[in-house]
Amino acid sequence: MDFVKELEAKAAAAGKTIVLCEGEDKRVVEAASIIVKKGIAKIILLGTDAEVKAACPDVDLTGVQLVDPATDKNADKYAELLFKAREGKVNKKTGAPEYADVAAAKAYILKDRTMYGALILKAGDADGFVSGACHSTANTLRPGLQVIKTAPGIKTVSSSFIMVAPEGGNKYVPEGVCVMGDCAINIEPTAEQLADIAIASADTAKKIAGVEPRVAMLSFSTKGSGNDDKFFKSVPKVQEAVKLAQAAAPELALDGEFQFDAAVAPEVGELKAPGSKVAGHANTFIFPNINAGNIGYKICQRMGGWMAIGPICQGFAKPLNDLSRGCNVDDIVATVAVTALQAN
Ligand SMILES: CC(C)(COP(=O)(O)OP(=O)(O)OC[C@H]1O[C@@H](n2cnc3c(N)ncnc32)[C@H](O)[C@@H]1OP(=O)(O)O)[C@@H](O)C(=O)NCCC(=O)NCCS
Repeated sequence: MDFVKELEAKAAAAGKTIVLCEGEDKRVVEAASIIVKKGIAKIILLGTDAEVKAACPDVDLTGVQLVDPATDKNADKYAELLFKAREGKVNKKTGAPEYADVAAAKAYILKDRTMYGALILKAGDADGFVSGACHSTANTLRPGLQVIKTAPGIKTVSSSFIMVAPEGGNKYVPEGVCVMGDCAINIEPTAEQLADIAIASADTAKKIAGVEPRVAMLSFSTKGSGNDDKFFKSVPKVQEAVKLAQAAAPELALDGEFQFDAAVAPEVGELKAPGSKVAGHANTFIFPNINAGNIGYKICQRMGGWMAIGPICQGFAKPLNDLSRGCNVDDIVATVAVTALQAN
């Protein structure tokens, strides 16, 4: 069975409910119909009957729960939840409270379906959230960052991609699957954030990609071979992150700093980092910043022909995922399957 079909089968067995916020988007509506027909998850789709029909006139939405926030009997409950979650927070531009009262919170959620979906998740009326087919990453993640917040013990929400080899693997990644993070959220992570990203990506590798994580903290330097003290101090940052992550998760196979070849090629790993349990055999790659990560996974995807599943958000207290605006129906179905597994 191929990797995505396997994900879908595992998700179906989990029997979770996922909220999709963008009933105005044709791809989302089509995906909702497919997901329910295949039994991958139960779906709450935000939108009106008219919107959904306009987006996708012939679609069969039997079994999909269509929720229009304007008429939803739970809207007051969600407004209350938002007001409580953001009490004491001020608008950065005006300095005024974000929501003066519950009525203001209600007025807001009737305009912002991404926030509405995040509140459905927070209330426990869905197990996971997927949005972003027609909204930016920042606008998709902000409601989650504001009301779902991070899981206990985790300070950083981050993301990773599961990369699937075109022909079942190669000599460097024999399992045919690897994880790359953070390619989409944290722009210039600190050492502490990098350590969080590494631990969360290892969890994604184990729980979603189904591989035992061997985590490489990437750099242009291997074990002190290079340095950039005069410029950005990125090598010491990665070295510090290695120490922090090893202290926080001593049971994890995690090492660095490594150049990519030292991380993935056994002959280079042995030469440049002798004795390391990870060098030459890594399957979970942590980039020093979003520039490296975003460029790196796209090289693998476009020039290597690997399938990129993600970005998969990590570290939220409840599963919440962002779609790329260039996504297709299959991407949405796969993201829902991943989200359902995260909820498991
Ligand atoms: C993720 C991102 C949207 C957050 O930025 P933002 O909306 O300006 O967020 P703010 O700084 O206003 O923070 C909002 C809240 O989220 C929290 N937060 C922000 N980033 C966080 C993170 N990575 N982990 C945990 N919490 C975070 C803040 O502490 C703040 O909490 P509070 O309001 O309760 O005090 C931003 O980092 C971003 O745009 N990243 C790049 C995304 C992108 O363009 N990707 C494209 C490549 S695919």
